Amino acid sequence: MAFPVDRPRRLRRTPALRALVRETAVAPRDLVLPMFFHAALEEPRPIASMPGVHQLPVSHAARVAREATALGLGGVMLFGLPAAKDERGECGADPDGPVPRAIREMKAAEPGLVVMADVCVDEYTTHGHCGVLRTGADGSREVDNDATLDVLARIAVTYAEAGADVVAPSDMMDGRVAALRAELDRHGLGDTAILSYAVKYASAFYGPFRDAADCAPQFGDRAGYQMDPGNAREASREARLDEEEGADMLMVKPALPYLDVLSRVRAQTALPVAAYNVSGEYAMLKAAAAAGMVDEARAVLEVLTSIRRAGADFILTYHAPDAARLLG
Ligand code: PBG
Repeated sequence: MAFPVDRPRRLRRTPALRALVRETAVAPRDLVLPMFFHAALEEPRPIASMPGVHQLPVSHAARVAREATALGLGGVMLFGLPAAKDERGECGADPDGPVPRAIREMKAAEPGLVVMADVCVDEYTTHGHCGVLRTGADGSREVDNDATLDVLARIAVTYAEAGADVVAPSDMMDGRVAALRAELDRHGLGDTAILSYAVKYASAFYGPFRDAADCAPQFGDRAGYQMDPGNAREASREARLDEEEGADMLMVKPALPYLDVLSRVRAQTALPVAAYNVSGEYAMLKAAAAAGMVDEARAVLEVLTSIRRAGADFILTYHAPDAARLLG
C-alpha cells in the first residue's frame, strides 16, 4: 500500500486524532528535580548560569518538598555544598551535612515524595575531583579508584540512614555499585535503591553545574574516569556491569547529545532507565529563549518528549517545575 491510498496526514488532521495516536507522552511524574542545598546559606542564592535555579538553605527543604509534591513530580535529586571541604571528601559522610539534613526535613514534611541523593565526593573535596587522590611515581596526582569506594559507600549509608529512598552514585569509579550495595546491606538498608549513573560522559555540558555545586576540578579534567564522547559500545558494557553489580536503575548522562546511547541502553536492559538533561542543556535552552530565538514552553516540552521517546522512563531536569506547570 502506497500513495495515494496510504496518507499519514489523515491521522494528523485534528488535535484529538493526534492525541489518540501519540506514541510518547510526558507527565510530571516522569520528571525529577535536581536541587542544591548549601550548608551556610540563610536565603536562596541564584545560580547565574542557570536562570531560575538557586542554591537553597536547608531551612527551605520542607517547603520545596511540598512544592515538588504539589506539582506531582516523580521525585527530587539532592546535591550538597558543605560548610568546609576536605582532601578526601569525608565531610560527605557527616550526618549533619546539608544533604542528610535536607533529606530528613523533606521526608518529615512529605513522606511520600521520592527523595534521591547524588553520591559523589566532588562537592566535598578541596580539589573538586570525584575521587580520592594518590601521587603517582612521577609525582602527578591521580584519582585512586579503589581507595574511593569506601568513602562513597559511607556517604551512601549516611544518606540512606537519613531517609533517602534512592542513592545515586555519579562518580564513575569501577565497582562502586557493588561497594554501595554491600555497605547498605551490612547496615540493614536493604530497601534503599541504587540509581547508577552507569553511562556518564566527560561532557562540556556540565559547565553551569560546576558553578552550582562549586565542584570544578582544581587541576586536570575528568576524562580519566568519565566516558569518552565517541564511545557507544562501551555504554553497553558500563550498563551491563552496573546491572550485574546490583543497580536497581540505570542512568545515561547527558541526555540530548546521547539519545542514541539512551536508546541502546533501553534496548539492552529490563531495568528502569533514566536520563539527565544536564545543566548545560538547560542553560542553552534558557539562553536561546531569553534571546527570543525559540519559544521556551514548546522547546522544553519537545526536548523532554525526545528524551522519553529515546527510552527514558524518567528524566532529571531543571525544567521540571516549569514543565509540570505546562503539563498541568
Ligand atoms: C558529579 C555530578 C556532576 C553532575 C551531576 N553529578 C558534575 C560532573 O560530573 O562534573 C552534572 C549535572 C549537571 O550538569 O546538571 N557529582
